[in-house]
Amino acid sequence: MALKRRNLLLFLGASAATVALSSCLPSSRRVSNSSAQAGSQGSSLSFKPVKGPIPLTTDGAVLTKQVEDYSRYEVIDDLVLPEGFTYEVIGAWGDKIGDSRFGYNNDYLSFVETGTNEGWLTINFEYISGGTWMQTYPKVIGKSLPFEEVKAAATEGKINAFALPEGDRLKSQIQAISREALVDLGLGAIAIRQTTDGAWTRTNSSSDRRITGISGLVDNRYLKATGPATAVFRKSQGQGYIDGLGDRIIGTFANCAGGTTPWGTVLSAEENFQDQVPEPVYADGTSFAPKTSPFVINNENIGGLGNVFGLAGNKYGWMVEVDPANPNDYGTKHTWLGRFRHEAVAFKAVVGKPLAVYSGCDRRGGHIYKFVSQGRVKDLKDKANSSLMSEGMLYAAIFEPNGTGRWIALAPKTPVNPVLPSTVEGNLVTLPQRPEGGSFEIKTDAEAIKFKQQYPTLNDLYEGSPIEKQGAILIDAHYAANAAGATTTARPEDTVLAADGSLYIAFTSGSPGSDGGPDKRVFQGSKGKSPWEYGWIVRLQEDGGDPAAMTFRWASFAMGGEPAEGGAGFSNPDNLEFDGNGNLWMVTDMSTSKHNQAVSSRIDGEGKPLEQTDIQGIFGNNSIWCIPTSGSNAGNAYLFGIGPMECETTGPFFSPDQRTLFLAVQHPGENSGIRKDKALQMRKFIIKTTDGKEFEQERQVPLGSNWPGKGANDPPKPAVVAIRRLDSKAISIT
Ligand code: FEO
Ligand code: CA
Ligand code: CA
Repeated sequence: MALKRRNLLLFLGASAATVALSSCLPSSRRVSNSSAQAGSQGSSLSFKPVKGPIPLTTDGAVLTKQVEDYSRYEVIDDLVLPEGFTYEVIGAWGDKIGDSRFGYNNDYLSFVETGTNEGWLTINFEYISGGTWMQTYPKVIGKSLPFEEVKAAATEGKINAFALPEGDRLKSQIQAISREALVDLGLGAIAIRQTTDGAWTRTNSSSDRRITGISGLVDNRYLKATGPATAVFRKSQGQGYIDGLGDRIIGTFANCAGGTTPWGTVLSAEENFQDQVPEPVYADGTSFAPKTSPFVINNENIGGLGNVFGLAGNKYGWMVEVDPANPNDYGTKHTWLGRFRHEAVAFKAVVGKPLAVYSGCDRRGGHIYKFVSQGRVKDLKDKANSSLMSEGMLYAAIFEPNGTGRWIALAPKTPVNPVLPSTVEGNLVTLPQRPEGGSFEIKTDAEAIKFKQQYPTLNDLYEGSPIEKQGAILIDAHYAANAAGATTTARPEDTVLAADGSLYIAFTSGSPGSDGGPDKRVFQGSKGKSPWEYGWIVRLQEDGGDPAAMTFRWASFAMGGEPAEGGAGFSNPDNLEFDGNGNLWMVTDMSTSKHNQAVSSRIDGEGKPLEQTDIQGIFGNNSIWCIPTSGSNAGNAYLFGIGPMECETTGPFFSPDQRTLFLAVQHPGENSGIRKDKALQMRKFIIKTTDGKEFEQERQVPLGSNWPGKGANDPPKPAVVAIRRLDSKAISIT
């Protein structure tokens, strides 16, 4: 999927050359494509890109000065923005929200305006960074928890707390830790207002509220559910564990990315739910027992948070809808949208057509999905549109290497036609295991063919009444999609719909792993290389622009990697957001363990080039980019910002007037915790000029984080910020 300019422009169509040159371009780098420039008359420099850790073709630097300019680099423990921009913190972990608190590891942000310069900010709280959370909890929350005692009682860091008797001291301690951690996960809705000086402030509305991992255990604030899986939830007997709560759900957690509907509700994606509850299910859709996902505690991690409360695994891994403006709404899980490691959601809502809801499953080998409603959209602003998600069909995507694609229904009648391991990077595919439940691995095409002969349709893999079977397929969507032959992809993170109705998808990493890997015929890097760790942004266009289309075209729009290797200069794209001028804003998510890891050589002991995953340290901290989608610089990436140490910048969301970019800073100090006494280290990196010449860089790297307080020894705290220009103008136009 290497970006080929000619193919990209053919794909974008005739309109590409006539659309205004996107305004995130610094004027010094504008190209001399006359038709593109004609459209850009009147706009000038939007921002001067910040200086990143490696030379870029978009940084405004002269090629002959790159070695001199980049031989020293200083990483900063702050949110670094271009000149003329500022930010303020709106809320941070531990702040009061309603009768609870601001949670941990904020991700998706949604701003729904209720009046001029005021509205609801909805925030996802995704997960706990165990080591740093335990280190900073007493200081930030002002209470203590028995971490050390429970660690000492655990066997290899694990305890099946569900089996301990009520009143047992250890069980009570695990309940206390799990409760506090689950309170830090879920969703929050806060009312905010912009003051006359441009700063955003909370109004502390009486409707401010949290929906947490254990809402249902507090004043019966259960979440609701719609769709066929509710028939499974309501079963009183089954092959697996049943929690006895029917279609009521205790909480939501692992809330990663999300989306805002045209009618003003927010959808929040439950992603890595398998860290807290069992993922595997039986043929009837009921869950594996709580003991299969025990409570986990060690110096780095806390997990299995659902174990002690006996949470049913099949009720997690869904898309949750909430109306921030309705103080009595504690969330609804729409099971027609499937259960998998949801990241992101995008809506294609066209009056008179069915509603399409896109999502992706962020795991190695995860799929892209589309729900199509049975009913049609009547009025984009009508909150009754939410009911469209209660009836329809879920489809999974097949991407053909030739740039076409199609959608296959995850219905009982769908033929089994498993993904062939020979087409997958890493040669590993997982399929539903029968009769044991859960899944098993295949590594040869012969095993796939045998499976297909054994189970001709999905109907043969799932059990129950027709509605229960459909529910079980939706509950087991990833494995059902593998069985049906949906394309295994490269860890889809965000999806976002462009103004022209096309869908942009961030595929963050093409490396294989224990869950599987991407289709190596489709996900290729520069010069056809696979695996390609650095990721892509792909554009998908439904045939006829129809939300209910069963065929589509796709093309690579931008590719991660070093400029000298044909990449756009970033690694591992994650959240996506369009500004009002059609520029795509993207934040990266390199795993924390890679950040600024020294690269003292590009070859191993045997003289072979290092793998891409071994040189990711060159890309520094996670960062924020602006990418034009039209004009001659379509697909080129301009560096707008760099996050504090060991963080991920998440949830970019523009205010309707484009003057504010809301942003979440997730897990600062994730691995090293509190930066002690402003500690730092000098590290060496072999980096490349944009034309491929290797040279040495000496890089100053802070150890740990003190953000957002920034005082010596301050605890790092996830926090949400508002970014704006000092001159109060729109962010992407001057
Ligand atoms: Fe929570 Fe896939 O990022
Ligand atoms: Ca993400
Ligand atoms: Ca991510």
